Amino acid sequence: MQVISIVQQKGGVGKTTLAINVAGALKQRGLSVMVVDADPQGSATAWAFPRKLGFEVKAELLANGTLSIWLRNILKQRADVILIDTPAGLSSVFRAAVDVADLVLIPCGPSSLDINAARTTLLNVVSALRSDARSRTQIAIVPTRVDVRTPEGQQITDELSALGENVSPPLSHDVYFVRAFTQGVSVTAAAPASNAAQEIKVLTDFLLESLAASGA
Ligand SMILES: Nc1ncnc2c1ncn2[C@@H]1O[C@H](COP(=O)(O)OP(=O)(O)O)[C@@H](O)[C@H]1O
Ligand SMILES: [Mg+2]
Repeated sequence: MQVISIVQQKGGVGKTTLAINVAGALKQRGLSVMVVDADPQGSATAWAFPRKLGFEVKAELLANGTLSIWLRNILKQRADVILIDTPAGLSSVFRAAVDVADLVLIPCGPSSLDINAARTTLLNVVSALRSDARSRTQIAIVPTRVDVRTPEGQQITDELSALGENVSPPLSHDVYFVRAFTQGVSVTAAAPASNAAQEIKVLTDFLLESLAASGA
């Protein structure tokens, strides 16, 4: 089993959208997947409510118990890949999700506010991982809500690369991602020919390579 944790200090950057759609693409490749919703806001759980995703989304809030119980509940799951969707902020659930991950994803939009938040998030992820010298956990920053018609959209990959970690292929600002949430589906299943689905597939290839590099 491999664990992908999605973290960002800032809200509304696309964490939940990333978790659900990557899970959908992994499932389409024949992997068993599960999303752990560790966010009290429950967006991933709400996404799954129409029961159309074809994989399980399980709410598992750290606030409901101790860290060891939370970890045990996650690690006992039987899935090839578990994606942990976390709340905004750098609280205890952030730290727990980073500690358990083989791959940490930091989604980031094109505004300077987003990039500043990604920088802070990254520093916290790196310092958490450094406390375990044996850790082979991989990190990737995921550019999200990118509009390549704007200068911000054209520059985001370069700006994020300057932070010194891997930057994944980007996700465009695309109404298909919004619609997928409204319909309770993932873009690869609902609109396989869409640009959004193509981007998620390219991103998923990149993430599988990163997981292989983590040796998990
Ligand atoms: N690539 C995208 N293109 C367009 N809208 C997006 C994209 N990613 C996320 N959104 C929208 O932005 C809002 C916040 O996304 P969400 O995934 O809930 O962020 P977070 O989990 O970080 O709070 C939602 O309304 C979502 O539909
Ligand atoms: Mg969310």
